[in-house]
Amino acid sequence: MDGNGRWAESRFLPRALGHQAGAETLRRIVEAAPALGLTTLTVYAFSSDNWKRPANEVTALMQLLACYLESETPNCLRDGVRLSVIGRRDRLDPALLAAVLRAEAQTRGGTRLHLRLAIDYSARDAIRRAALLSNGDALRFEPAITDVPPVDLLIRTGGEQRLSDFLLWESAYAELFFTPVLWPDFTPACLRKIVRQFQLRHRKFGALPPPPLVGQTARWLR
Ligand code: IPE
Ligand code: MG
Repeated sequence: MDGNGRWAESRFLPRALGHQAGAETLRRIVEAAPALGLTTLTVYAFSSDNWKRPANEVTALMQLLACYLESETPNCLRDGVRLSVIGRRDRLDPALLAAVLRAEAQTRGGTRLHLRLAIDYSARDAIRRAALLSNGDALRFEPAITDVPPVDLLIRTGGEQRLSDFLLWESAYAELFFTPVLWPDFTPACLRKIVRQFQLRHRKFGALPPPPLVGQTARWLR
């Protein structure tokens, strides 16, 4: 969800308003996602490196996240969306932590879409923690990093072409899409277009492409 700040600055608005516009975008994308075949959607809301931002922006983001969780819980319940949060919890302020726990508990039964908000998230930190937790046990390592399947499709908005410590382990075979569209301008139509492109990509996971079907071979030979 990159580009909120630039979206606001280009309108001579405070950056916090860009983040608010970004929250609206997320609401619309979450509504559109199930119809596009998405079952898990993980969004990068606040990276562990975002603590380096000015205190007023960090505070605004934390308040916005707590508000988002509160205001979206009824919509999630209505739409069968399970909301959960990944990332470190020990540095969140108590109000945000309480909002996280409430939203997770109330939406636990959602089965149409699993919406995961990454807050105080660092993929390298998650990997390091999993390594410590699993104590050399390879079978326990991966489940300690994630409880969802690997990432199929990864989209970064806002024009940058890097992963910025997001889902590094889970994205080993993800199809990557970078769009210059700033997150507040990203629409369900943008997502639909990218999903269509994703469906045209040939995913081989290091193997060879499957041989053509007999019918196709016959057609080529003719
Ligand atoms: C979004 O946008 C996401 C967060 C980190 C909260 P940015 O705040 O990074 O926006 P730009 O990149 O400055 O435009
Ligand atoms: Mg940015």
